[in-house]
Amino acid sequence: MNQTPILQADGLVRSYTLNRGVFSKGQTVNAVNGVSLTLNRGETLGLVGESGCGKSTTGRLLLGLEPLDRGSVRFASELMPDIKDPKWKTLRTRMQMVFQDPLSALDRRWPIGAQIGEPLDIHRIGTKAERLERVQALLADVGLRPDQANCHPHELSGGQRQRAVLARALASDPELLVCDEPVSALDVSIQAQVVNLFAELQQKRQLAMVFISHDLRVVRRISHRIAVMYLGEIVEEGLPDEVLHSPLHPYTQALVSAVPHTGRKQKRVVLQGDPPNPASRPSGCTFHPRCPVARPMCAEIVPALRAASASRKVSCHLIDAPEQKEVA
Ligand SMILES: Nc1ncnc2c1ncn2[C@@H]1O[C@H](COP(=O)(O)OP(=O)(O)OP(=O)(O)O)[C@@H](O)[C@H]1O
Ligand SMILES: [Mg+2]
Repeated sequence: MNQTPILQADGLVRSYTLNRGVFSKGQTVNAVNGVSLTLNRGETLGLVGESGCGKSTTGRLLLGLEPLDRGSVRFASELMPDIKDPKWKTLRTRMQMVFQDPLSALDRRWPIGAQIGEPLDIHRIGTKAERLERVQALLADVGLRPDQANCHPHELSGGQRQRAVLARALASDPELLVCDEPVSALDVSIQAQVVNLFAELQQKRQLAMVFISHDLRVVRRISHRIAVMYLGEIVEEGLPDEVLHSPLHPYTQALVSAVPHTGRKQKRVVLQGDPPNPASRPSGCTFHPRCPVARPMCAEIVPALRAASASRKVSCHLIDAPEQKEVA
């Protein structure tokens, strides 16, 4: 893995003001609240956390698909241009996104081969014959047959459609791929195959990848590093084995304890209190109302995400307290 960053995000903030609904009109939803992360070339960062914690919003912000309220994103050391800036369109060939639902990402009226080759046509990459050849190579890379280039999306299975979406994302030979729950809509029996394909192609092409999932087991299989999000913030970051076998943050401990067969003997930690609401963020450490070991200071002081070791970061005031080391 190359140790030069392809992506550097610093203090990303994004909120939405709701303009619908009798009870929610005018409310501000703090979807992402100060996310900072670095991704090296050829590295996969797994982004996990429960529904609504801001994973997808972070993914869109990283690619400049949404404007930032605050913070900055650098891609290959350059500040990410605004989406309306022609420079952003040029960058688009170097960074791609794969979404959860392959059917809505594909056009039902077009054969798969034409859709895979579309980015090559748009950016006029190679001659027509070279483009056709490239589509065939991409089909083979993602495990589809050459004749499947003529299939329409509805003629493929869910797993095959996601393979086609991946082939299209790879057509322009990107350096960065942001994948938002790319296997969550797939049958469990297919998920492992498709995750393996993502891992294989990531390695072969030395792609940098942000892999978003709510499923720690999926993220563990593919990631070089894992970042755990809670209410719009990263609360812990580390190597997959560290995060899964010795989680430091009480939220990560609860998340890990809910995953069967992580190889760690543990007691299930059931979180107390209401599920988090990004429209009403608790004071201090936002996890404190649900934290089994919170102290009075946790309601008052916002913890910083700080280094706990060379490879690990955590945001918890109590990290050095002995009872914080293990929940079991
Ligand atoms: N365009 C939008 N307008 C208003 N609120 C939004 C918008 N996009 C996201 N949100 C809110 O921001 C918060 C974070 O949403 P986001 O989709 O990033 O979460 P997520 O972690 O991807 O969730 P999931 O696992 O369910 O996909 C949620 O409360 C969501 O309702
Ligand atoms: Mg999402």
